[in-house]
Amino acid sequence: MLSFVLPTEAHRKDVLAFYAEFEKSNETCIGYGDHADFDKWLCGMHNRIAGKNLPEGYVRENFYLCYDKDELVGVFNLKFELTPFLFNYGGHIGYAVKPSRRNKGLATQMLRQGLEISKGFGFEKVLVLCDDDNCASEKVILKNNGVFENKLFDAEENVFVKRYWIYL
Ligand SMILES: CC(C)(COP(=O)(O)OP(=O)(O)OC[C@H]1O[C@@H](n2cnc3c(N)ncnc32)[C@H](O)[C@@H]1OP(=O)(O)O)[C@@H](O)C(=O)NCCC(=O)NCCS
Repeated sequence: MLSFVLPTEAHRKDVLAFYAEFEKSNETCIGYGDHADFDKWLCGMHNRIAGKNLPEGYVRENFYLCYDKDELVGVFNLKFELTPFLFNYGGHIGYAVKPSRRNKGLATQMLRQGLEISKGFGFEKVLVLCDDDNCASEKVILKNNGVFENKLFDAEENVFVKRYWIYL
């Protein structure tokens, strides 16, 4: 069982180390933004969670740090509404596991728990997307009963995305 917590000042060191691991592997990650300036990052996250002062195109979301005991292993977000862009190319949910902890079933577990959280907020179904070539993420979605809807071309990212609904 992972712990899902909303970020606070207490998580400064963990968050910086978490994103540093992505940087080291030349990857970005959801919530990456201004992490180097942690105070700014945290303020932005709190705004996202409160749904205030949002940049253009952003919606209210909960952004969780996912801990395996005392280790920050992943991040998970849940968006509370879908803009036309999110409906086509983003979905309600995003997740990532740090490179050193992959292929151990953590994302599958994270999504499973995240779906329970979504249900608790009153969602009856959530939209989850993955890039066409993201086989690992697709497996995670399928193992959580994702129902394939369709595949769309995201011209901005120059990539096909697969759209799945998960019924809660
Ligand atoms: C996608 C991601 C979250 C998966 O995390 P994870 O903790 O490694 O996932 P799990 O261990 O729960 O499951 C991954 C599954 O994909 C498989 N897999 C891993 N890499 C794979 C690859 N390159 N090709 C095919 N399958 C792959 C694993 O074997 C596992 O399947 P199995 O349970 O049948 O063995 C992780 O790679 C990640 O954070 N990537 C960067 C961010 C991202 O892509 N997020 C998803 C956005 S939609």
